Amino acid sequence: MRAQLLSSIAVALLAAGCAGASGPDTSPEGRAARPVRLTGTKLIPAGWTLRAAPVTAPKAMVASAHPLATAAGLEILKAGGNAIDAAVATGFALAVVLPDAGNIGGGGFILFRDADGRVRALDYRETAPAGASRDMYVDSAGNITNASVTGHLAAGIPGSVAGLHEAWERHGTLEWPALVAPAIRLARDGHRVDAARNDDIEDDARRLGTFPASRRQFLVNGKAPATGTVWKQPDLARTLQLIADSGPSVFYRGQIADSIVAEMQRGSGLITKDDLRRYRAKWRSPIRLTYRGRTIYSMPPASSGGITMGLILNMMEGYDTLGAFGTASYVHVLAESMRRAFMDRNRWLGDPDFVDMPVERLLSKSYAAGLRSGIDRRKATPTPPSGFSASEGTHTTHYSIVDEHGNAASVTTTLNGGFGSAVTVSGAGFLLNNEMDDFASAPGKANMYGLVQGEANAIEPGKRMLSAMTPSIVLDSAGRLELVVGTPGGPTIITTVTQVILNVIDQRMTLADAVAAPRVHHQALPDVIRYERAGLAPASVERLQRLGHRVEPRTGTSGIVAAIGRAPGGGWIGVADPRYAGGAAGY
Ligand code: DON
Repeated sequence: MRAQLLSSIAVALLAAGCAGASGPDTSPEGRAARPVRLTGTKLIPAGWTLRAAPVTAPKAMVASAHPLATAAGLEILKAGGNAIDAAVATGFALAVVLPDAGNIGGGGFILFRDADGRVRALDYRETAPAGASRDMYVDSAGNITNASVTGHLAAGIPGSVAGLHEAWERHGTLEWPALVAPAIRLARDGHRVDAARNDDIEDDARRLGTFPASRRQFLVNGKAPATGTVWKQPDLARTLQLIADSGPSVFYRGQIADSIVAEMQRGSGLITKDDLRRYRAKWRSPIRLTYRGRTIYSMPPASSGGITMGLILNMMEGYDTLGAFGTASYVHVLAESMRRAFMDRNRWLGDPDFVDMPVERLLSKSYAAGLRSGIDRRKATPTPPSGFSASEGTHTTHYSIVDEHGNAASVTTTLNGGFGSAVTVSGAGFLLNNEMDDFASAPGKANMYGLVQGEANAIEPGKRMLSAMTPSIVLDSAGRLELVVGTPGGPTIITTVTQVILNVIDQRMTLADAVAAPRVHHQALPDVIRYERAGLAPASVERLQRLGHRVEPRTGTSGIVAAIGRAPGGGWIGVADPRYAGGAAGY
């Protein structure tokens, strides 16, 4: 049965198009693609003040959520490394300077397009320990406990070290230790903490303070290291040195594995030496989409990102005419498309090694046409109660890299919630994820982000929990690299990446404006359009309400995009989201 399921998934993914495709899209959908006609006038309230500061460079670019991690990637590019070398260096640097999301104790996805147009997806998502069981987070009264969020039981088997090493082994060019070196330097010699990172640590200080090793690692007298002070992380520096010297074997079988297992024993966690030894990063066929003549690559399961974005885009593509940005008519069809896409996401998707998914059908233009025919442009369609629900989180991180050869890496990595499980591996200086919460702790009941998902994402030993991470790459109608993009944000990841792409293609915005523009989000349940405060004109809110939508401002902003686009006159434009203190740099 399992083998049969696997082969049907492989066929579906191949049919969806995979590695090797490049050049102009000659598919019937591609040929038929026409630019959309926009009606009305763009509506962005005057109170929306965010503006991005794009950076341009002729040859290569790195954009990430921390200027020092961007600098680490750039250093490697300038030393002759390619996009994957730089992605490894940026990833390790983020584990030091952005500890709430950058990690070696979490997992992630890399979407890589080489200069010859081959596209590959690397899945280094965490897996459930062998000792995990379906109801492990349900108490005797049937309620979900907090153990999937905070503490040792929340951690899946970390994939980041295996993933970064696998990417390097396959595509890297510089020596492995050279790629870990910038991170070691930042941890050993310290770096100056900026206001954004001081805030991030301070926000979670109480939670981190619960665990002695986290208290020692992150807090000074119970508080975040003060802004402007130099913060050194000697335990993490030693761990990174071990990884530089010995690669993943020390993490999955050697000294670091011993530390992880000892930590598990201190907190009644489940991860064993055997779990660690068995962990593998996996290459997967990327999801390939077409949208109005562009080709878009994105992440396949165990991420829901590529398929869910594909569903939304395929529905949107069927409209010859759309409202201009920010109008109620535009937000309405976008939200209705998001609603339908999330219903399918939450019902069907899970780890491809465990569940059979109708990927080919979900991504067909005819399936989208069927869904679109159910969208009424004059009124909202309520989500049926079985439509499952989700809400957003805020800590994960994305970075985008283009090297001077034209190779591109789009990488999203996460501990799940900010600072993951809040458990630092004693003596090793790094946090463990709380990715187990991305499973449906109890199918039909909400997880940390309010996600109520189905059987496909139930907990099983060795299984990868479903993700929303959507590292993506867009090619223009001539098949040239046009955009590298991604973001954190829980379920809003999918709708954020989709909106940046729609802003560029349909709303004809510059990349900087496309990233800075206010975002909306709908995820089927709760049945509500959430918008960034001051991001939707009162007239649009009112009109959407008249169409039958619940419309609410969300708390905080939505997403932290790191994007690179082809500059009109040649070279690259890097954009770090003005919602956060990231940085883009190139040469
Ligand atoms: O993989 C996922 O979908 C989640 N673990 C991502 C969590 C996230 O993005 C939280 N914050 N920004």
